[in-house]
Amino acid sequence: MKANIVLLPGDGIGPEVVAAAQSVLEAVEKKYGHIFEMSEYLIGGAAIDATGQALPAETLAACQQADAVLLGAVGGPKWDDPAAAVRPEQGLLGLRKNLGLFANLRPVVPQADLLSASPLRPDLLDGVDLLVVRELTGGIYFGEPRGRREVNGQWEAFDTMLYSENEVRRVVRLAFELARGRRKKVTSVDKANVLDSSRLWRQVAAQVASEYPDVEFEVLLVDAATMHLITRPASFDVMVTTNMFGDILTDEASVLTGSMGNLPSASLGEDTNRLGKPRGLYEPIHGSAPDIAGEGIANPIGTIVSAAMLLRHSLGMEPEARAVENAVDTAIRAGHRTIDLARSGEKSLNTAMITDAIVKLV
Ligand code: IPM
Ligand code: MG
Repeated sequence: MKANIVLLPGDGIGPEVVAAAQSVLEAVEKKYGHIFEMSEYLIGGAAIDATGQALPAETLAACQQADAVLLGAVGGPKWDDPAAAVRPEQGLLGLRKNLGLFANLRPVVPQADLLSASPLRPDLLDGVDLLVVRELTGGIYFGEPRGRREVNGQWEAFDTMLYSENEVRRVVRLAFELARGRRKKVTSVDKANVLDSSRLWRQVAAQVASEYPDVEFEVLLVDAATMHLITRPASFDVMVTTNMFGDILTDEASVLTGSMGNLPSASLGEDTNRLGKPRGLYEPIHGSAPDIAGEGIANPIGTIVSAAMLLRHSLGMEPEARAVENAVDTAIRAGHRTIDLARSGEKSLNTAMITDAIVKLV
């Protein structure tokens, strides 16, 4: 099969982890006889430096025509001036919005051999297999108005957290559909005791829940959810929540796996590609890690398993996706660790070494 994949390395460790995932995709091509046309485009800070824009028109056009997009990370101290008119993150947010990717799937499944890498007690991690479905194109990330103004000689700044019924309904519905193929439980997370947008969220979520009597439904306030996530992580199946709460909860959830470097994500919408599958955007949940960028020691696993999700969701290649995930699992079981996963005294591999180990196992 032929597929067209756009690679967006971005900033910081982005190019290193995308190169790793690219070698894994090349191994899949060879082994399964596919042809992946992979082309790189600029996004984020790298795009700002080259073109003045975080999401150049050429990049967006390529992504709109691709079967799937794989992204590394955007952002870094170089572009962090709070007064800057253009920011790297606008590239990623613009891409999500323009591609209509309203649902971000972030699966959290700790690997048995990495339990000791997590700060949580191993007995708490037993049986953890959760999926966070984060709303991705609405909420406070996109609400208008937003901005800064001077009032009585003082600056103030404001954002708007806004959700429409439809925006809530489509993402909550997807969460229920996904739960049906899993352990049949959905936890909706909001802040309905304080926020109007959350009260609407909760109301719509309850309506959707009534269409799925076979799926257990639970609601949690986000502050409580942060606690339950580390006191009873195994009790969750699918968690569905707003854009900002999902951003925060998934960084927290990622350490259940030992390192946020392990966590993949898939962003999906209604648009389909030439194969009739969702034209998704796949990215690790971690950031650009400027402190270690260029050292060749970044953990590429989150991006490699994001590529596995790409194979599964956008190309319909389930066996190939499993082969990549199994290769990662086997490499970890064989004791291969990047520095973020190694415990003191354990030997650690650099990005190229762990990637080679995984490539050989595909
Ligand atoms: C993420 C990231 C992004 C987000 C940033 C880089 C804009 O933290 O994908 O979780 O906040 O969505
Ligand atoms: Mg985040």
